[in-house]
Amino acid sequence: MSEKIGVAVIGSGTMGAGIAQIAATAGHKVILIDSNDSALDIAKSSHEKIFARLVEKGKFSETQANEILGNINYHIGLNEVCDCSLVIEAIVENIEIKQKLFSELELILPKNSVIASNTSSLSIASIAASCDFSDRVIGLHFFNPAPLLPLVEVVPSLLTNPIIVDDMVALMKTWGKIPVLAKDTPGFIVNRVARPFYGESIRIYEEGLADFATIDWALKTFGGFRMGPFELMDLIGNDINYTVTETVFKEFYYDARYKPSFTQKRMVEAKLLGRKSGKGYYTYAADAEREMPVENEELGRQIFERVWAMLVNEAADALFWNIASKEDIDLAMTKGVNYPKGLLAWADELGPDKAVEIIEKLRNKFGEERYRVSPILKQKSQLQERFF
Ligand SMILES: NC(=O)c1ccc[n+]([C@@H]2O[C@H](COP(=O)([O-])OP(=O)(O)OC[C@H]3O[C@@H](n4cnc5c(N)ncnc54)[C@H](O)[C@@H]3O)[C@@H](O)[C@H]2O)c1
Repeated sequence: MSEKIGVAVIGSGTMGAGIAQIAATAGHKVILIDSNDSALDIAKSSHEKIFARLVEKGKFSETQANEILGNINYHIGLNEVCDCSLVIEAIVENIEIKQKLFSELELILPKNSVIASNTSSLSIASIAASCDFSDRVIGLHFFNPAPLLPLVEVVPSLLTNPIIVDDMVALMKTWGKIPVLAKDTPGFIVNRVARPFYGESIRIYEEGLADFATIDWALKTFGGFRMGPFELMDLIGNDINYTVTETVFKEFYYDARYKPSFTQKRMVEAKLLGRKSGKGYYTYAADAEREMPVENEELGRQIFERVWAMLVNEAADALFWNIASKEDIDLAMTKGVNYPKGLLAWADELGPDKAVEIIEKLRNKFGEERYRVSPILKQKSQLQERFF
């Protein structure tokens, strides 16, 4: 597929505006479409501000910035997409609305064009099924903020033509992205493997072992994570984070490993959404005093190791079920959510047997299915093998 194909991005919100920026920077003519003209105005002025800042910082000359901005055209309605070889959909996360859009698109697009969805939680098969040309439909899952986070999960459905998969992997590389190949299963790689970072941390809080500040401190200090789980949930928004957890739980046929928490559900019900509402696990008023952690090293290490073991188990299980290769699972977590290390490499470093021991202790204590060791992690531990 040529590097300079015409690209349409549909939905000019958080993700669509970012994806349009990436494609325009890579030299493509981009049509950014939204059904709401004020969303388009916001995207346009945000692009102008971003490029003014990038010029100030010396990342681009003024001529280059103007050229990139000139690559983006803003439109209401689908009429202008008919020359595009790639359409990336980033509209509202609703299956009926996405299906309707995809079936409209295939009527006006050239027969060899690719229609991609940036969905976080819907199956690509369910979106593709609305099209006659379902072999041209694929998932391209970018991470927020899309221009800054390099990962793109490339997700073929059962119906996708393999040539399109190769084309999209190659194209994402030309956009400066790091593509990983993921199976069309709930949460793909990142949103599945990351669940324990939030879920196990909340569980530790619910058991009364530590408060939010102490758990955040433990994961940053002993794990090297840039943000603690509660800081991160406040940044993402508790409503968004809770919805992802609930969706993954339901889509996995209510597997106890992904069970959402009452703590976060109540936060959402109380509209304690995090930074965007001024209060979540922490308070964000300018004069608010920040809660101090209990800096007890033994407790801190215990907290880190428990969350680490559950993360490693989840990454191992994704490998066991062939969701992605071991290399891609590790790349996904370091490039999509900035983890300090790939989880499987981290398992090798601290030892798969250590993770197994921690989880089996929890299993004995609570008797819950949540603490189920992945067969591949158990095997690595028993045979004293490593993932890499
Ligand atoms: N926000 C994230 O962190 C994130 C990360 C990865 C993937 N995603 C996925 O990306 C998609 C978009 O998410 P977002 O956060 O950018 O949403 P958003 O609400 O910021 O933007 C969605 C935009 O789509 C427009 N829209 C809705 N229906 C439309 C239609 N039929 N035709 C044209 N425009 C329409 C809306 O007016 C809005 O401007 C969702 O599928 C979401 O799951 C979001």
